[in-house]
Formats: sequence, C-alpha cells, structure tokens
Amino acid sequence: MNKKFLLGTGLAFTLLFSPFGQAFASEPTVGERKQVDNIAHRGATAYAPENTIAGFDLAVDMKADYIEIDVQRSKDGELVLIHDTTVNRTTDGTGKVGDLTFEQLRSLDAGSWKGEQFTGEQIPTFEEILDRYHGKVGILIELKAPELYPGIEEQVAEALKERNLDKPQNEKIIIQSFNFESMKKTNELLPKVPIGVLTSNRAHTTPEALQEFSTYADWFNPSYGIVTKDLVNQVHSLGMQIGSWTVRSQEAADFLFEMGVDAIISDYPDYVDPRN
Ligand code: G3P
Ligand code: CA
Repeated sequence: MNKKFLLGTGLAFTLLFSPFGQAFASEPTVGERKQVDNIAHRGATAYAPENTIAGFDLAVDMKADYIEIDVQRSKDGELVLIHDTTVNRTTDGTGKVGDLTFEQLRSLDAGSWKGEQFTGEQIPTFEEILDRYHGKVGILIELKAPELYPGIEEQVAEALKERNLDKPQNEKIIIQSFNFESMKKTNELLPKVPIGVLTSNRAHTTPEALQEFSTYADWFNPSYGIVTKDLVNQVHSLGMQIGSWTVRSQEAADFLFEMGVDAIISDYPDYVDPRN
C-alpha cells in the first residue's frame, strides 16, 4: 500500500463533506493551468553557475518553489554539492569528487566557467545549504551516484534530523535519486520525508514498476521525453506525484503543463512561473 494512502484517504473524506471539497472537486476550466511546483534545477542554472549559492539565491529571487541540489561526498567525509562525479566541467580543478579533500574542493573556483562575474563561487556544503535555505524555499535533494559513497544516506538523514527537517510538517524537503536501492534505504531512515525516484527509462513506466515504486516513493520523476498523460494518470492513481526534467525551453514547460504534472524541474524558473 502506498505510504501516504491512509493520510490521503482521511484528507479526501474530510474534504468531500466540507465546503472546500466542492471547490477542490471542480475541474479546472479549459486552458487554465494547474498550479505546479517550480523547481530550479541545480539553482537558476540558465543564469548562474549550477549548485552554487549565486544560482540558489537567484532561484529564490525568481520565486522558485524549490531548489534542486546534487549531493556527493569529499574524500574526508564532507557532504558537498556538485553534479558531475569529477570537478572538471564546473570548476577550475581536475579529479574525482571523492578523491579530493574538502579543503581541496573548497579551494576551487566553481563560478568563473559560467562567467567572470561569478568568479570565486565555491562548492557549497550540504549543511550550509540546509541552514541557508530551509524555511525560505523547498529543497529537492538528489543523492548523486550514492553507490560511490557508502553510508551517505545515513549522513544525509543525520543532517536533516539535527535540524528537525525530518518531520511531516517539513514537506518542502524531498529526497530523490536514480539509485532505487538508495531511496528504499532512505525511506526507512526517514519515513516521513517524501522520496522520489528518477528515471529516463521507459521500462520503469510499466504498471508493475510503478506499483513497486509506490511502496516507498512519493514522487515519480521522469525525464520529459517519456511523459504522457497516461503515465501521469497512472502515477496519480497510485498516490504518487510526478515531477519532470529538465526543461530548457518554453515549449517543454508548456508540454508538461498540458500533461498535468505536479512539478517542473527547469534551468529557467521564469518558464514555469505562472506570472509570465
Ligand atoms: O531533478 C532531476 C534532475 O536533476 C536529474 O538529472 O543529471 O540533472 O541530476 P541530473
Ligand atoms: Ca540533479
């Protein structure tokens, strides 16, 4: 049974017999956009270096609902934010993230590759990002290649618990990964934190696969190339939400609005903002 099923059933029953229920029950009018969560992919990545404070601050200024972050670990055990498993593309250094100490990672310039105005941006730590943004914007935490970092799930769970961010009222924390075993484990460590599974593989969209995901995940997050209305309906019927990535054009955002997804993960928060 879906982990949110009982909670959802109670809420649905209450709404059905309340005046609010009538409002929620009405279908959106034709052409009306469903409200979706606007998730800034690695920050406002189109405009500022990914996985940096400059990019996350800009996403907040652009009124994103969430920032998406990629979490990995230094050689000496510090949780850090960077997308690739090497520092080569997004810093002035070279080497694997897990082969470099925190001091070595922190000394790198993670901004100038994107533009000289970003010179001096550093690789952030996971904990400083939690402290800087929780309560201000949602945080979609991706465990990137967790198979390279044994025990990273426990470390992430500990950092969230220390900040009381593992409780149901803090629903604007979500943890996702392409590594499904890691997400099963994370769900056991943090049963009240919403879990997401990431995929771009159509083989993961069969009824059987979706049913299995729904036993531990709250979000099914596919690349937009495999999204269909039928998939959205199937995901919803299993009690999960669906967020899709990576939107880099207004057309792609409009396609996902049309499909009825719950969240759009984009390098361009402005393409998802209903005010635009
Ligand atoms: O949040 C979805 C997206 O981040 C997954 O792909 O490669 O950008 O981490 P990637
Ligand atoms: Ca990511």
